[in-house]
Formats: sequence, C-alpha cells, structure tokens
Amino acid sequence: MNRPLVIAPSILASDFSKLGREVEDVVAAGADWIHLDVMDGHFVPNITFGPDIVKSIRGRTDAVFDTHLMIAPCDPFIEAFAKAGSDIITVHAEAGPHLHRSLQAIRALGKKAGVSLNPGTPESVVEHVLDTLDLILVMSVNPGFGGQKFIESSLDKLRRLKSMIGDRPIDLEIDGGVTPGNAAAITGVGANALVAGSAVFRGGTRDAYEANITAIREAAGNA
Ligand code: DX5
Ligand code: ZN
Repeated sequence: MNRPLVIAPSILASDFSKLGREVEDVVAAGADWIHLDVMDGHFVPNITFGPDIVKSIRGRTDAVFDTHLMIAPCDPFIEAFAKAGSDIITVHAEAGPHLHRSLQAIRALGKKAGVSLNPGTPESVVEHVLDTLDLILVMSVNPGFGGQKFIESSLDKLRRLKSMIGDRPIDLEIDGGVTPGNAAAITGVGANALVAGSAVFRGGTRDAYEANITAIREAAGNA
C-alpha cells in the first residue's frame, strides 16, 4: 500500500528573523508538514534551535511538526520536544546505543517515532526496530547544513528500506538536496515524504514558495 505524498519544507532555509511568518507562508503555499532541524554543535557541526523555538511557532499552524533531532544524547530532550508541540520526533540511529529505548520513549509520549540514518549508515540498523517505528528518514547529505548536493547512492538505500518496510504503516522520508530534478527518482524508489529546504525557500516570497512546492510535488508525482 502506498503512503500519501508529503512535502516537508525545512525551515532551516527560511528567514529566522520572521520565523512565525515564514511558517504561515509556507503552509499557505502548500506545505504538508513543517520539518524542524534541531542541531547541537556536537552530533553535527552546526547549531540551530531548541524546544522553545518550536513552541513559539506551534500556534502559527496546525500542520504536522516533523522534528529531526541531530543531537546526542537525544533521550534527555525528547520530552521537551514533545511538549513543545512536535507530532513526529526523529532521532539518529548513530546518536546513542539505545535506539529502541528512544523510540519507545517517543511513542510513550503519544508522538510518532522516527529513525534517521546518516549517509554512511547501513539500512540494517532499523531491522530490529521496525515494529517500534512510524518513519524512517534517509539522509541524502551529511547532516549539518542546507544547500548540499544529493548523494545518489541514497536511492539504493531507499529501495532496500522500502522492501524491508513491506506493508507496515511507516513513512519513508528523504532529506538533503531534494529538487524538482530528482523528486521523481526519489518517489520512484519508494520514498513518500520529501524534505526540502533551499529548493522551497528560494525566492523569499509566498508566491515563490508556492511555485517551488508545486514544482517538487508535480515532479514527485511523475515517478
Ligand atoms: C540537513 C538537514 C536538512 C536540510 C535540507 O542537516 O537535515 O533538513 O535543511 O536542506 P536542503 O534541502 O537545502 O538540502
Ligand atoms: Zn532534516
């Protein structure tokens, strides 16, 4: 069974000086989910924002908040991101030794649980947690920065994960370097959730966001 196509703009590429407005504009422009990239300067070489910022924009939209935690350790912060209004909380498989425990903690808070894999991490790490999972996020760049080039071998990883997932109700998400030019190849191998930062926020206006999201959605539908 195919999962619905989701376009999830990453606010990492938005103008942080008017973040609330950017969230409203990108939802009005057709975003399905809002992708929130949380970085700690330790697990990844960049720092972004924490739960208070997530909470501050929660009132601006009912869209799903798709929180991508690029932090280690992650367990001490899961509850704060849940309380801040995240709907999906994704942790990195590489962020600690107790992936299953982290996923159980997310679900115990009533949220959907995701696992993210760095480009160098094999898909086998999710094999024994598939029944504790709602989403698998494949990084198609090394995490830390927007605007990087899509790593082509991510397509093979997506294909293999799609087959591992089988009929389970798990979203398969791709993150990094997504453009209208590669969206069809991505959905063609089974991903249904596409994160895009620079390809959505390019142009800086609501009209530009709408054209950008439409271009990705149409290309993705042409798999
Ligand atoms: C990278 C982040 C991505 C990033 C995507 O660490 O996880 O979500 O913002 O940005 P683009 O689409 O510009 O590659
Ligand atoms: Zn991300």
